[in-house]
Amino acid sequence: MRKPSQWMVCCALTLTLVGCNPNEQPPTNEPTEQPVVTEEEPMTPPVEAPESNDEESDTPDTEVTEEPPTEEEPPAETPETTPEEEAPPVELVPKEPLQTNGQANLALDTLILVNKQIALPSNYKPQDLVTPNIDFVDSATGDRRMLRQEAASGIEALMTAAKTAGIDLRGTSAFRSYDYQVQLFNAYVARDGKEQAMKYSAPPGHSEHQTGLAIDVSSASVGYQLTQGLEQTKEGKWLADNAHKFGFIVRYQRAFEDETGYMYEPWHLRYIGVEHATNVKQMNVPFEEYLKQLMD
Ligand code: DAL
Ligand code: ZN
Repeated sequence: MRKPSQWMVCCALTLTLVGCNPNEQPPTNEPTEQPVVTEEEPMTPPVEAPESNDEESDTPDTEVTEEPPTEEEPPAETPETTPEEEAPPVELVPKEPLQTNGQANLALDTLILVNKQIALPSNYKPQDLVTPNIDFVDSATGDRRMLRQEAASGIEALMTAAKTAGIDLRGTSAFRSYDYQVQLFNAYVARDGKEQAMKYSAPPGHSEHQTGLAIDVSSASVGYQLTQGLEQTKEGKWLADNAHKFGFIVRYQRAFEDETGYMYEPWHLRYIGVEHATNVKQMNVPFEEYLKQLMD
């Protein structure tokens, strides 16, 4: 992965992304304590993309099956007993390839890997999308408030715990269809050029938002913008310290910009389940590296 130039790093550090959504207007109450470059609204903002008519893909459930017993069948009159201590260890996930020819492995379910090299089919839309009962910014509408069932429960628990701790957070963008990402990415490329846009926006098919397992969140303290300034706020710190307890990782870390190819996004949460999220946080490795170790 090419190292970002000093200029790009500087831009990335000061760049403020307005809701990852060019439809959103920059808030007028922008904090003035720090220099923030607010992106202007693109000349041709994307409109809400129509739903794809393509048939939706199934997301097969990942089942954990125990190894068949190696002992011979006992005689009919002997009752079958399988003492718990003799049961084989249950794996968190079966060994699965992370991708095939650059296509994401849907069988990984909530551990699905999507990144710059690995894409979802253009017609992929999770079948269990629901709208979590959390606060969203007004500009997040329709299915962009939706998440897969399990991730929705996770974000509801996270938001409840945050509120209890006096932490104000709102969702700004959750599920994004392939078609919506086309509009979004093209608008950013038209405005900033492809090389720069690629630092903060995923090309269609390559966005975790299409998995229904990712959500961007922000707080009033940064005007609900998607800005790296979130890191310095008590809300951003709370997220970094606690997201894993609800199954989320802060996916694009500053330390892993070279590995992920994306600038630091303290607002982008990816659901992978509590156990895995806790492991990723404790191991302090990119999600790609964690999966490699898990599947090896
Ligand atoms: N901002 C992240 C990389 C996305 O567009 O999915
Ligand atoms: Zn995001």
